[in-house]
Amino acid sequence: MDKLILIGAGGHSKVIQDIANASNEFETFAVVDDAIDGTNQTDGIIYANTSFIDSLQVEHFKFCIAIGNNATRREIFATLGIPIEQYAVLIHPTAVVSKSAEIGNGTVVMPNAVVNADSIIGKHCIVNTAAVVEHDNRMEDYVHISPNVTLSGIVSIGEGTHVGSGATVIPGKIIGCWCTIGAGAVVVGNIGKHVTAAGVPAKKIVKN
Ligand SMILES: CC(C)(COP(=O)(O)OP(=O)(O)OC[C@H]1O[C@@H](n2cnc3c(N)ncnc32)[C@H](O)[C@@H]1OP(=O)(O)O)[C@@H](O)C(=O)NCCC(=O)NCCS
Repeated sequence: MDKLILIGAGGHSKVIQDIANASNEFETFAVVDDAIDGTNQTDGIIYANTSFIDSLQVEHFKFCIAIGNNATRREIFATLGIPIEQYAVLIHPTAVVSKSAEIGNGTVVMPNAVVNADSIIGKHCIVNTAAVVEHDNRMEDYVHISPNVTLSGIVSIGEGTHVGSGATVIPGKIIGCWCTIGAGAVVVGNIGKHVTAAGVPAKKIVKN
């Protein structure tokens, strides 16, 4: 079994620990976070400051940036400089992933999610609980598809975009990079870059 180190100790990290426990591939070795002072051990797992990684030979471990914020995952990946091959692909055993789908290192696929044929998912993405990624999707790095999202066939999502819980994207639509799609939205047209859109049908919204 590979020894897994989770970077981030919040709620998202707890879900990823469950995925690691449910798989027969990984055992959680340590959870590190900038908010932890010193080092302690609970139930056989080391909890330590992120600087703990500096004392390790990273090639002996697998890593996952267990933080929900897309920009933060990108920043941490760049800062730590751990080679991308050392990042695990974590797939919960109840998820259904087509043999023809590709999933990048650092990406997590949560319980009951589905990734269908010929979809390509980038690095450090999150396919959250019960999300459906239909056939031939393209998802760039650092995307987060929240619980119960439905991406219909041939949807493209740009880098860093967050699709909120329960949103639906109809077939063939393109969403640009670093967008936020509101919870429950129905995306029926293409969406540009750096846009926040919500509602049915989804329209650009202005923050209060
Ligand atoms: C869309 C979203 C990002 C907007 O957040 P925000 O920028 O802070 O926007 P505000 O709360 O200031 O709301 C701005 C306007 O949009 C409306 N709005 C906000 N979220 C909406 C949504 N999901 N659907 C429809 N309208 C929404 C607000 O009612 C408000 O309307 P008003 O101007 O008529 O009063 C946020 O509400 C949202 O849905 N985030 C997704 C969260 C999520 O699913 N997380 C999953 C974690 S796993």
